[in-house]
Amino acid sequence: MCGIFGCILKDRDAAPIIHSALKRLEYRGYDSVGEAVLHGTNLTIKKDEGKIDEVHALHNLDDIAGRIGIGHTRWATHGAPSQINAHPHTDCNGQIAVVHNGIIENFLGLRRELQERGHAFRSKTDTEIVSHLIEEGIREGLTLPEAVRGAVGRLEGSYTVAVVSVLEPDKIVCARKESPLVLGVADDALYCASDIPAFLPLTNMAVIVNDGELVVLHDKGYEIRKIADGTTISREPEVIDWTPEMAEKQGYPNFMLKEIHEQPLCLRNTLRLQEQYLELMTTFLDRAGEVFLVACGTSYHACLAASYMFSKLAMLATHPVIASEFVEQHGSAVNIDSTILAVSQSGETADTLAAVGVSRQRAATILGLTNAIDSTLTRISRVYICQQSGPEIGVAATKTFTSQLSVLSQLALRLAKRRGKISHEEIEDLEEKLEQIPDIVEKIIKSREEDVKRLAMKYRDKNCFFFLGRGVSSASALEGRLKLLEIAYAPSIAYPAGESKHGPISLIQPGFPVVFICPRDGTRRTIIGNIMEMKARGASIIAIIEEGDKEIKGLADEYIEVTKGLPEILSPIPYVIPLQLFAYYMAVARGHDPDRPRNLAKSVTVQ
Ligand code: M6R
Repeated sequence: MCGIFGCILKDRDAAPIIHSALKRLEYRGYDSVGEAVLHGTNLTIKKDEGKIDEVHALHNLDDIAGRIGIGHTRWATHGAPSQINAHPHTDCNGQIAVVHNGIIENFLGLRRELQERGHAFRSKTDTEIVSHLIEEGIREGLTLPEAVRGAVGRLEGSYTVAVVSVLEPDKIVCARKESPLVLGVADDALYCASDIPAFLPLTNMAVIVNDGELVVLHDKGYEIRKIADGTTISREPEVIDWTPEMAEKQGYPNFMLKEIHEQPLCLRNTLRLQEQYLELMTTFLDRAGEVFLVACGTSYHACLAASYMFSKLAMLATHPVIASEFVEQHGSAVNIDSTILAVSQSGETADTLAAVGVSRQRAATILGLTNAIDSTLTRISRVYICQQSGPEIGVAATKTFTSQLSVLSQLALRLAKRRGKISHEEIEDLEEKLEQIPDIVEKIIKSREEDVKRLAMKYRDKNCFFFLGRGVSSASALEGRLKLLEIAYAPSIAYPAGESKHGPISLIQPGFPVVFICPRDGTRRTIIGNIMEMKARGASIIAIIEEGDKEIKGLADEYIEVTKGLPEILSPIPYVIPLQLFAYYMAVARGHDPDRPRNLAKSVTVQ
């Protein structure tokens, strides 16, 4: 997601320091860059779309006088990448500059309210409302820190903001909720940043800012206050002994594990999507003559799971299709009544774009779900939704899968509501459970990681694995298999469990590991039958089960428990977590680099 940096220097210009810190944040992924520097009562802003080197070539990011400033790398969430949408954003009078990382859920309402009171908006971002809210606070006589506190108190969603103003030109004010913020402390400087790599070459003394805290940086030091009541908190810096490479991974040994752990945050972000796009996409799906869900790899598995969601909740039959087969299989049948929902993290996968290209020529409606605003997919889609999971650097897709599932389940739920296909009670229950999913995923990661690690050590020398699930869990089985084979190089097979008897069961010999994905759902009796069949042939059963499922515990050689009481249709989100961790620890145990599996590219741009 976006990167933030700010600095107060004793006797040097801030601009070159901001420039080099933003370069160190490049690994986070971004599409635009900007900085604001104070020099007495002068506020100079430089910003543009593009890579830092390109923007520097055009605007000379180093050439601003002043020792206090903030900088930003933007990963677009609201509004396409453009100079106007790049941060910093200012108030009506150009006296306050704000950079932001996160998603402000209630920005449309606040923007309308501010416009009614005469505020003029330049950008399409959610961020710009923050500068106007601060402007109002200052107009009412508040100090800058108090005005920032008042402004962030009105925000729903996630944010880290860093703010400078000509009205109090000796300070930077920051505040955080959910998005990260850390301070760097040196003898001749103070820094604030989204993460440690931004200032690590400058100081290794850091202060972690917690959720719900506001920080004022000034020449004499830093003050931390609670946003809720303004009370002061004292916190000393600690020594960070990370190498720059470790810092980019936030202390995790590699990006894949970091991204597995980011899933609760990403899932929270998917619950903050803009209503109007979800509604619009629901309308297109509702009106479609036929719906194809088209994608590759992990995104295809999300489509497969979604086909169960659309069918079970909204009674909409959809066709999940592997993109590379789409043209051969359905190309000639697609027509003006067809709707293609293309799902692609990168938005650049050649097979997915080829399927979309043929469908467009045949006048089909194209809808897109992607992680990359301004990707080719967003440009050719009638409506697109951003899955909001931030850059995924590990080649194996992890947060991509769960974020896509969360968005797709929201669409299925909306469609169900609109079509009156499920009762109010069911809708309310599903909505409530969907809200709980980020916490549930967080709990599973915290409580089960060690168990999965132990499992990986036990099975690390096995040559082949079988993954089986029924119903929506057959998609989880396919995803668990893909993760394991692509990063641990363990040849694996996955089937809907019922199909295993029609051939694959011949592989089973004593000790052959079979992973069963068994949420407590309508397929329970039959999946237990499948477990018995495998057991009878000596298979070693690893079951992913609901907490306290005694019956399956009694049958399995190993089990991993997942939180109780989840609706069947949402189960792939939590049930895939142990599978991701298993693949990760198997890769590590076998001595492979999970971030860079051989022969694979993050984005496959050739057909
Ligand atoms: O960017 P996309 O979602 O279109 O990518 C699709 C696949 O290439 C991708 O999911 C791939 O299968 C990953 N290596 C899975 O971990």
